[in-house]
Amino acid sequence: MTSAQIRQSFLDFFREKQHSIVPSSSLLPDAPNLLFTNAGMNQFVPIFLGQQKPTWNPPRVADTQKCIRAGGKHNDLEDVGLDTYHHTFFEMLGNWSFGDYFKKEAIEWAWELVVERWKFPAQRLYATVYKPGPAEPSEFDREAHDHWARLFQDADLDPRIHVLTAGKADNFWMMGDTGPCGPCSELHVDLTPDGDTRGALVNKNDPRCFEIWNLVFIQFNANADATFTALPQRHVDTGMGFERVTAIIQGTKNLTDFSGTISNYETDIFRPIFDEIEKLSGKKYASTLPIVGQAPRLPGKEQGTRSGRPTTDPDQEKIDIAFRVIADHIRALSFAIADGIIPSNEGRGYVLRRILRRAVRYGRALEFHEPFFFKLVDVVAKTMGDVFPEVRAKQKTIQETIRREEEAFNKTLDKGIEVFSHYVTFVSEPTGQGAEPGSVGSRQLSGTAAFTLYDTYGFPLDLTELMARERGLTVDVAGFEKLMEEQRDRGRKAQKKSAIAVLDQYDTPTKFVGYDHVESAATLLGVLADSSRRQFAVFDISPFYAEMGGQVGDQGQARLEGRTLRIKNTFKRGNTFLHELDVPDVPTFTDFGGEAASLKLDIPRRRAIERHHTVTHLLHWALHEVVSRDAVQKGSYVGPSIFRARP
Ligand code: ALA
Repeated sequence: MTSAQIRQSFLDFFREKQHSIVPSSSLLPDAPNLLFTNAGMNQFVPIFLGQQKPTWNPPRVADTQKCIRAGGKHNDLEDVGLDTYHHTFFEMLGNWSFGDYFKKEAIEWAWELVVERWKFPAQRLYATVYKPGPAEPSEFDREAHDHWARLFQDADLDPRIHVLTAGKADNFWMMGDTGPCGPCSELHVDLTPDGDTRGALVNKNDPRCFEIWNLVFIQFNANADATFTALPQRHVDTGMGFERVTAIIQGTKNLTDFSGTISNYETDIFRPIFDEIEKLSGKKYASTLPIVGQAPRLPGKEQGTRSGRPTTDPDQEKIDIAFRVIADHIRALSFAIADGIIPSNEGRGYVLRRILRRAVRYGRALEFHEPFFFKLVDVVAKTMGDVFPEVRAKQKTIQETIRREEEAFNKTLDKGIEVFSHYVTFVSEPTGQGAEPGSVGSRQLSGTAAFTLYDTYGFPLDLTELMARERGLTVDVAGFEKLMEEQRDRGRKAQKKSAIAVLDQYDTPTKFVGYDHVESAATLLGVLADSSRRQFAVFDISPFYAEMGGQVGDQGQARLEGRTLRIKNTFKRGNTFLHELDVPDVPTFTDFGGEAASLKLDIPRRRAIERHHTVTHLLHWALHEVVSRDAVQKGSYVGPSIFRARP
């Protein structure tokens, strides 16, 4: 079966079971506690919580959902490239019941699809069910256990071998720290040539046996205080790894031959991307893998992995890791940007930038020194565009965004790599001083080095950590964080430089009337001076807008005791407006107070600022519509002659 046929066959199966097929939701989640959409169920959270009614009759749906698991609770980024089945971006096939069918049907249909329709050999399957450890929520999922046991028994297999139990970490699924959750049952497949490991590799993080489908029985809401509340109804939420299932079906010649390589990358999903990387780099992918370090030794069996050839050639291994990383990351970047998530310095945008920089740095292993990553967008659009038309619709935007990011990072990457190598030569055995607890015995790159790489060369901390790991080093993360905090402090102080160190105690509020008036009568309450001899008049009432949210302060004049004073800027300190006087040479008016004043703005200037303020909102509206719902109004500058908006 091709991957397209596998996807379709899943959807067709559930359509036969009266499920409505719904579109994937955006990678940009509605839930505030998520960086990216990380599971098929995200879009259904309000239904699970009883806040929305399902509109489908019967209330069952199925789909393929775009997911990114990088950053946040479910984070697979570190594994990507080193194995053959973890991804940042992947498709999750899922079926849902909203207060409709429950464990029996969910489990029986999983079996029917996998064993009867797709013909996975039942003796290679292992089901896990929830059994809480001490202080873990809820109870042993006997119901799920018994359904699985019956199915295995009917297939002449021993349920004591094929149905396993595990605690909260493996068999209690939560979307994040809060939200709908419940016990789950996973289906694992033994991919060893003989398929007779009797469950020894289940949940052992071993590429010879991995989970393909998770069936969650949503029963609770996890609250912020770590308690669980039972939901009004019980639901089913399942997630199948589309790339994993495709790898198994295609890597075993439709489940007939388990002697070959089984890897998500050896599928028609990734092969076209690899072809393009081979063409651009002139290098070949050779399917080598780092030796599985932690794999349990199987009695009487040769050690090694079936999911790739254990490496004998370290250079080829580096090339192959780079192929996998780049092919994985281009999908994450393309799909995220198509959904309006843009690489940036904060939040999910920064996670995306980290993924991109990771890919670009791995590009060096394939000897790419010019922007190359953006060139892979075409193949992603070509191969995925039929199912996800947004990637084709946004193809140009995606390419441009990636190219700009690549160009920017390329400027510092080579120098950064050189500086990194230089730092590495200075790494010595830790003395315990400044070393993290637990790092004693391992050699450590200093926090200063990691900070310089971040600050000057744009290396995200996890990229430095990755490069350090490749040299058998750790990074002094605490030292790095300390320097980051100091930098943030400096930033905060620098921002305040115009907010004046006048009189700290001065906290008389000014009544702002500038939304309705351009002039007003007021009483001068006092004049303050700072250490640079700047002087600031404080009035009880003012029509002057004080610098705030990127909009500059107003200018104008104050008539006072027969003289006119020019006001060249307006700031706010607490609730007090400070009108900076353009009178450097007059004696300080510190004795002043109580005089009547008449204030008037520079009206044409204020109108020009207002126009720019309006245009800033229009631009942000347009950015939301055209580029990204993720665009936030930050770092904008709104002045009389220009405005600048940084999304
Ligand atoms: N929500 C479940 C998961 O993501 C199905 O594994």
